[in-house]
Amino acid sequence: MKILGIETSCDETAAAVVENGRNVLSNAIYSQIEKHRPYGGVVPEIASRNHVIKLPGIIRDALEDAGETFDSIDAIAVTYGPGLASSLLIGYSAAKTLALRLRKPLIGVNHHEGHLHSVFMRKDAPAAEDVFPMLGLLVSGGDSSLVLMRGMGLYEVLGRTIDDAAGEALDKAAAVLNLGYPGGPIIQKTAEGGDPDAIRFPRGLDHVDRGKWAYKYERDFCFSFSGLKTALLTHVKKLDHSPEGDELRDIAASYQEAVCDALTSRVERALKRFPIKSFACAGGVSMNKVLRQKLSDLSQKTGDALLLCPPSFCTDNAAMIAGAAYEKYRLGKTDPEPQDVNPNLRLVDWI
Ligand SMILES: Nc1ncnc2c1ncn2[C@@H]1O[C@H](COP(=O)(O)OP(=O)(O)OP(=O)(O)O)[C@@H](O)[C@H]1O
Ligand SMILES: [Mg+2]
Repeated sequence: MKILGIETSCDETAAAVVENGRNVLSNAIYSQIEKHRPYGGVVPEIASRNHVIKLPGIIRDALEDAGETFDSIDAIAVTYGPGLASSLLIGYSAAKTLALRLRKPLIGVNHHEGHLHSVFMRKDAPAAEDVFPMLGLLVSGGDSSLVLMRGMGLYEVLGRTIDDAAGEALDKAAAVLNLGYPGGPIIQKTAEGGDPDAIRFPRGLDHVDRGKWAYKYERDFCFSFSGLKTALLTHVKKLDHSPEGDELRDIAASYQEAVCDALTSRVERALKRFPIKSFACAGGVSMNKVLRQKLSDLSQKTGDALLLCPPSFCTDNAAMIAGAAYEKYRLGKTDPEPQDVNPNLRLVDWI
């Protein structure tokens, strides 16, 4: 089964054709980063207008690269949330129109479900029965969550960030240090050769809990990155000069270390608590070399199998959407009526 996936939840305009959920026949992406860079973040109206301009060509590219046509594909998958409403609407309208015109099924996919599925986007990915129950660490620009997947489409969110996402924390740090946007890759690059132990930045929620915990998820599995950001601001202010050279490298390395440590320690706690067959990491921050190394080390230590998202599918892409859609379709879990977009969509079980 060949599915045309469409993804426009934020600032990547993407389309892909994927066969049987894993075999990526094409993966066309137009990244709008250059359009948003001057503003230091994504500007929703600029994003949606660029989706309007670029999406038709990107869909054409995806079909041509795959050697397919509108007639030869079997279904259309689209991200319907979470994300920017005005961006989601462009991809969703295109997908709905195509599905109606071509009389092919339309499969709505949760963007974060797509990220979690991206660890399976390779031909030699293990079979579902070999990986579930699986612990998923989702680390993107908009979310940081620990998710227990008991099976395909069976999600139990164990914990989430109570403030910033890990990607957001890295993006904000790069802004504080005047390094540019997006921050994750720039912090990683700047940190090269720096000492990760130079400054002990806070790990967020690591101190003993003295107050009342009013949040929905267990404290042990939640993240907090706002204190880290404040610690960086305070550190830089105290310096009284703009850090450069080794000093800058040490700050970036220490900050990156704090983010990666906080993420890895929650995974370790969850691995101890839940009997799982594997654990996985996906989303833009899963590109990060230090995080990948720490998770690999953890896998060595615990003996649990680790599935890391292939680098080309870490940030937003439509292949992961088509991949997740295939599983939904295969299991008969697709909504019979085309859905509207939902900017605040949460992970819910496929029932
Ligand atoms: N090498 C890297 N190291 C750390 N972070 C990175 C790296 N590369 C990208 N990122 C971060 O990944 C984030 C983007 O990831 P992604 O595309 O998954 O997020 P998003 O789609 O904007 O958010 P969401 O999926 O929650 O809607 C950015 O915050 C970016 O800084
Ligand atoms: Mg994303």
